[in-house]
Amino acid sequence: MASPQRLNVVVVGLGFGAEFVPIYRVHPDVATVGLCDVDAERADRLAATYGADRVYPSLEAVLDDDEVDAVHLVTPLTEHGLQSIATLRAGKHCASTVPMAVDERDLSEIIALERSTGLTYMMMETAVFTREFLHVKGLVARGELGSITFARGAHYQDMSGWPPYWEGLPPMWYGTHAVAPLLALLDTHAVEVHCFGSGRLDPAEESRYGNPYPAETAIFRLHGHDAALEVTRSLSRVARPYTESFDLYGDRGGFEWSQLEEDETPLLFAMGDPEHTRHRPITVTRLKAPETGDLLPPSLARFTREGVYGADGHLSVAQGSGHGGSHPHLVHEFIRSIVEDRPSLVDAQTAARWTAAGLTAHRSAIAGGTTMSVPTFD
Ligand SMILES: NC(=O)c1ccc[n+]([C@@H]2O[C@H](COP(=O)([O-])OP(=O)(O)OC[C@H]3O[C@@H](n4cnc5c(N)ncnc54)[C@H](O)[C@@H]3O)[C@@H](O)[C@H]2O)c1
Repeated sequence: MASPQRLNVVVVGLGFGAEFVPIYRVHPDVATVGLCDVDAERADRLAATYGADRVYPSLEAVLDDDEVDAVHLVTPLTEHGLQSIATLRAGKHCASTVPMAVDERDLSEIIALERSTGLTYMMMETAVFTREFLHVKGLVARGELGSITFARGAHYQDMSGWPPYWEGLPPMWYGTHAVAPLLALLDTHAVEVHCFGSGRLDPAEESRYGNPYPAETAIFRLHGHDAALEVTRSLSRVARPYTESFDLYGDRGGFEWSQLEEDETPLLFAMGDPEHTRHRPITVTRLKAPETGDLLPPSLARFTREGVYGADGHLSVAQGSGHGGSHPHLVHEFIRSIVEDRPSLVDAQTAARWTAAGLTAHRSAIAGGTTMSVPTFD
């Protein structure tokens, strides 16, 4: 293994995962970066593009290498749970792209392993490191929105033509981008949900996961908070461009994501004192959330800006405007939590709560909208 201050990292899964390789390569606390993909041609091509200290043909080969300190999984979402468990059992720090797992038992097992091994686990949730999220976090902390009354998250993305494991996927299994920013901003977790499936898939599409719904919409009750959280998620059959959004409304101010990410910026609302008997005045401004590169080591700062990725970059990054500049923050937080020997900001319990909110919502939808308790993993 590398010295505790300089880590040997391997990125596993080089579709979306390739976006992180150049960032790890210039992180001051990273000694070497390895690449792993079961598609050997892809791994070799990316090693030639970005450089790689080692190339591995499988996760097993990575876990067998005593020199590897940390693994970042960016594999298909149905594999994250068992691969994270294997990584922690092999004594390696583990980052996983979202969602943490699609089976609640895996969530509990990862929490137990994080606790028993003392290793770092981090779910790499892009939505809690965007420039918009970081700006609104400051507004909430300074009380500029007042007392929060209502929250809404939405993630619409048409996955037609994506790899086969997306076909018929329960939308709320991948609910974290719509759930996580609001739970993080309100500093709480979901305790109860009822959710309805919406629309209808073809029988052939239903068969893989036993899910009939292209869209799902849920309302959550939150621990120790009076606001309700409304979340909608769609994966097909919804004619609107991609968006991954959160809206937050308090009694002094509000934040609302733009309708169309390409040509609008989010809205800020400020509620004034009563001037008339029948309403309070509300001023509306457009927010251009400030860049966040100054929060990072200088070598990583440029990766918050749009346009640093090549034309052959991952489609989700282009659709999501570079995921709000979140990627270098994710890398930095994962690496620094290991070096500082502390839980990551999205540690196993936090990740499990965010992921389980969606998994439970889907179970509620299948049960016809029955109210269900969300596990809290205390
Ligand atoms: N904003 C975000 O946080 C965000 C955005 C996009 C994707 N994702 C997540 O990333 C995951 C991967 O997305 P993608 O579009 O790159 O998927 P993909 O299926 O296009 O690519 C996955 C890559 O992993 C490789 N792979 C598969 N199984 C492997 C294994 N066992 N070991 C090593 N390599 C393996 C594949 O060969 C492929 O190159 C998605 O399932 C999703 O969960 C998150």
